[in-house]
Amino acid sequence: MSGDATTADGGQRTAAPAGLRTEGLTKSFGGVRAVNEATVSFRDGQINALIGPNGSGKTTFFNCVTGMIKPDSGSVIFRDKEITGRAPHRIARGGIGRSFQLCRIFPRMTLLENLLVAVRARNLRELMAGSRQPEAVDRARELLVRVGLDHLENAEAGNISYGQQKLLELAGVLMSDPDTIMLDEPAGGVNPALIGRIGTLVRELNAEGKTFLIVEHNMDMVMSLSHHVVVFDRGRPIAEGPPSVVQSDPRVLEAYLGV
Ligand SMILES: Nc1ncnc2c1ncn2[C@@H]1O[C@H](COP(=O)(O)OP(=O)(O)OP(=O)(O)O)[C@@H](O)[C@H]1O
Ligand SMILES: [Mg+2]
Repeated sequence: MSGDATTADGGQRTAAPAGLRTEGLTKSFGGVRAVNEATVSFRDGQINALIGPNGSGKTTFFNCVTGMIKPDSGSVIFRDKEITGRAPHRIARGGIGRSFQLCRIFPRMTLLENLLVAVRARNLRELMAGSRQPEAVDRARELLVRVGLDHLENAEAGNISYGQQKLLELAGVLMSDPDTIMLDEPAGGVNPALIGRIGTLVRELNAEGKTFLIVEHNMDMVMSLSHHVVVFDRGRPIAEGPPSVVQSDPRVLEAYLGV
């Protein structure tokens, strides 16, 4: 796709295919407006970060975008198509993959089995058929090599470290080859060596064309990895830009430190 795109603030920027954006996205829980008329866009091909204090609505935003939660109002637009309120499996089929803040793996299954059940399937029969396909097994093995867990192929997922479980979950996301990958706190609770490996993987996958949207509290990771950072406070973006600009934005310091 070519031609200039208009930025949220009305300026022109160099061409990039339309990515993922929301308009006025809102979701309340009782009296709490977890996501509050959030209008934000993330360009294709970039590593985007979504940061903000605890409870600022980042996970709820992810849940609304991926169909896990139906927003009260507003819209989610992926590559110029409205996907608001679609079922999660349809959104996944459209090319958006995600991981969860609290790792979702099957602890009693082996690593290889975990990847085989992560393949997109519409029903149990398809799931069982898919998991026996040699191509799926080959792909799962390839991905285990890629995330550095191939030596643990037959270990039970519940017995590996939390950081390794995060890598396994990332491999599970990659099984269906999404081109937009949303990670909710990939470094949370992970030891520094594995954080480094996760960062390297994200960079490599981005170089291969994958778009990322990463929620993360680890500022070293966010600032070293991201092209574009969006800062949430009380359910909506309050600042955005390249890491160097966002880091010194007084609104960001205020949101984080209350100063
Ligand atoms: N299922 C729910 N029911 C009720 N309130 C909820 C629910 N999910 C989130 N909230 C509330 O919505 C607000 C936003 O929560 P959310 O989990 O989206 O924040 P977050 O930015 O991901 O925080 P953290 O950085 O701690 O993960 C919080 O006040 C939270 O308590
Ligand atoms: Mg969260």
